[in-house]
Amino acid sequence: MSEIILLSVFNSVPGRFGRWLLVPSAFILSMAMFGASPANAQAIGLGLAQANSCVACHTIEKKRVGPAFKAIADRFAGKPGAQDYLAQSIRSGGGNRWGAVPMPAQPQVTEEEAQALAAWILSLADNESKPSSP
Ligand code: HEC
Repeated sequence: MSEIILLSVFNSVPGRFGRWLLVPSAFILSMAMFGASPANAQAIGLGLAQANSCVACHTIEKKRVGPAFKAIADRFAGKPGAQDYLAQSIRSGGGNRWGAVPMPAQPQVTEEEAQALAAWILSLADNESKPSSP
């Protein structure tokens, strides 16, 4: 649980510059200090989503401005290339896949963070362990 405390400390640093500087370091630090076990990957994923303001438009369970992360996971989990596709999609934004409202590009998210976010979102799928259906 200490990684959650660590992440909330980092996330509470105000301002854009603070985020730019601290989010990647928090991420790398957490990986280094706690390892990449599934429980820690969950905390890191959520921390990144909070630090990058994804949670202004997304929640895990319910549609908000954007689709629920769980709904995205259920659509893409088990598909080949899903993580790369979503990582790319997170950074470039786009529209017309879930509804009329487009998602703005998120250039503040690094490639590494986008991959971690995509992996985290995919891990939320209910059907993750089942074989993929065509
Ligand atoms: C201003 C609101 C907003 C913010 C901030 C936002 N999103 Fe989105 N997101 C959306 C909307 C709206 C859609 C649906 C777009 C569509 O219909 O194609 C979406 C779609 C997505 C998708 C699905 C893309 C696809 O190809 O199906 C992912 C994954 C996603 N968002 C992740 C994120 C992550 C991670 C962040 C933070 C870095 C984030 N979003 C920040 C509004 C937002």
